Amino acid sequence: SFNEMTAALEMNARELEQRRRFIEAILDNVPTGVVSVSPTGEIQRVNRALSQIFGADRVRRARRLWDLVPPEAAPGIRYLMNRSRRTGVASQQFEFRDGGRTLHLGVTVSALGERESPGFVVVIEDTTELLRAQKSAAWREVARRVAHEIKNPLTPISLSAQRIARQVERAAAANALPGDMVRILQECAATIVEETESVRTLVNEFSSLARFPAAQPEPADLNEIVHTGLAVFEGRLPGIEITLDLASDLPPVMVDRELFKRVIVNLVDNSAEAMRETPVKRLTVCTRPAGADAVELEVADTGCGVSLEDKEKLFLPYFSTKEQGTGLGLAIVSQIVAEHGGHIRVEDNEPSGARFIIEIPVRNGAGAASGRRAAVRAGGPGERS
Ligand SMILES: Nc1ncnc2c1ncn2[C@@H]1O[C@H](COP(=O)(O)OP(=O)(O)OP(=O)(O)O)[C@@H](O)[C@H]1O
Ligand SMILES: [Mg+2]
Repeated sequence: SFNEMTAALEMNARELEQRRRFIEAILDNVPTGVVSVSPTGEIQRVNRALSQIFGADRVRRARRLWDLVPPEAAPGIRYLMNRSRRTGVASQQFEFRDGGRTLHLGVTVSALGERESPGFVVVIEDTTELLRAQKSAAWREVARRVAHEIKNPLTPISLSAQRIARQVERAAAANALPGDMVRILQECAATIVEETESVRTLVNEFSSLARFPAAQPEPADLNEIVHTGLAVFEGRLPGIEITLDLASDLPPVMVDRELFKRVIVNLVDNSAEAMRETPVKRLTVCTRPAGADAVELEVADTGCGVSLEDKEKLFLPYFSTKEQGTGLGLAIVSQIVAEHGGHIRVEDNEPSGARFIIEIPVRNGAGAASGRRAAVRAGGPGERS
C-alpha cells in the first residue's frame, strides 16, 4: 500500500543518513587526508587529517586541489587527475619543499563514476615520518656492518703487537738488541695495543645504534632521572644558568632509568655546545603532566637554535654540524624515546635557542605492572632509588 511505501522510504532515508554520519566519523578520524573534488578541480569537502598535513590555513584558503601544494607541484597533481579520468585510479609519490621542510606525500586520485567529466576523491598520505624511520633503519644496518668489518681484525692486530712486545723483552733480556731499539719497539707495540683499544671503543659506540641494549622499563620518577642526568655535568657547565621546573605531581613513568639518563645527558650536552658562543646561556629543564596519560620532558636552551632545514635531519644518525660531532647523540635519543612508545620533537625557543620536547606515555606497560606501580606510588619517592 501507499503507507507501507512511505514507511519504507523513510527507513531508507534514515539508514542513508546513519551511513553518511558513520562514513564522516571515519573520515574525520583517519590519519590520511581525504578530499572530494568537483570535475573542474574545486575542493568540495575535506577531512580533518588534511589540515594536519598542509596546515589549517592553507586548507581554508585553497579553492582548487592544486592550491594545496607549491606551484611547481601543481602540474603533477593535474596530470594525476587526468590520468585517473582514463584509468579510474592513479597514484604517485610526491616530494616537495614546503617553506623549508620537505614533505613526502603519497597521492591517490580516484575518478567517481564513468561519466565524461567525473568528480574525484583524493587520498593524501603523509609518508615523511615513514621515510624517516626507513632511513634510520637503513643507517642502523650500515652501522652494524661497518662496525663488524672494522672490529674483526682488531683482536689479531692487538695480539700480534703483544707478541712482538714479548719477543722484544726476551731479546732485551738476552742483550740481543741495542737498548735504543728495544725502547722504540716496545713503545710502538704499546701504541698499537692502546690505539686498537680506542678504535674498539669508538666502534662499540658507533654500533650501539645497531645493537642497542633492550630497554628494561620499570616505574620511575622522571624528576629523579633528571637530577641524576644533570649530576653528570656537575661543575662542567661553567657560565650556564640552570633552571629546573619539575612538576611535583608527576605520575611515575615506565622507563629504563639508565637509558633516560642518557637521553638527558645527550640533550644537555647538545644545549651546552649550542650555547658556547651565545652571550645569554640559560638552560631550562622542565617536566610536566601532559593530559591524563602522558608526561612531558623539555630541555630548552638559549643557544644558536636549529634552522628549519636542519630540524628534518637532526634525528638521523650521522647528521652533525660540529667538526668533532658523531651525529649519533640525537639518533640515540630518538631511538630510546621510540622504544618507550614516546615521541620527541624540536621547536624554537623564545626569544632564541632550541627546545627539545619528549612526550612519554604513562600507560606504557602500566597494565602488566599496575600492581608494582601502585606500590611505588604508596611508597613515595623515599622508597625508590
Ligand atoms: N640544543 C641544540 N641547539 C642547536 N642545535 C642543536 C641542538 N641539539 C642538536 N643540535 C644540532 O643537531 C646536530 C645533531 O646532534 P647530535 O647530538 O645528534 O650530534 P652531535 O652533537 O653533532 O654529535 P655528538 O652528539 O656525537 O657529539 C648537532 O650537530 C647540531 O647541529
Ligand atoms: Mg650531541
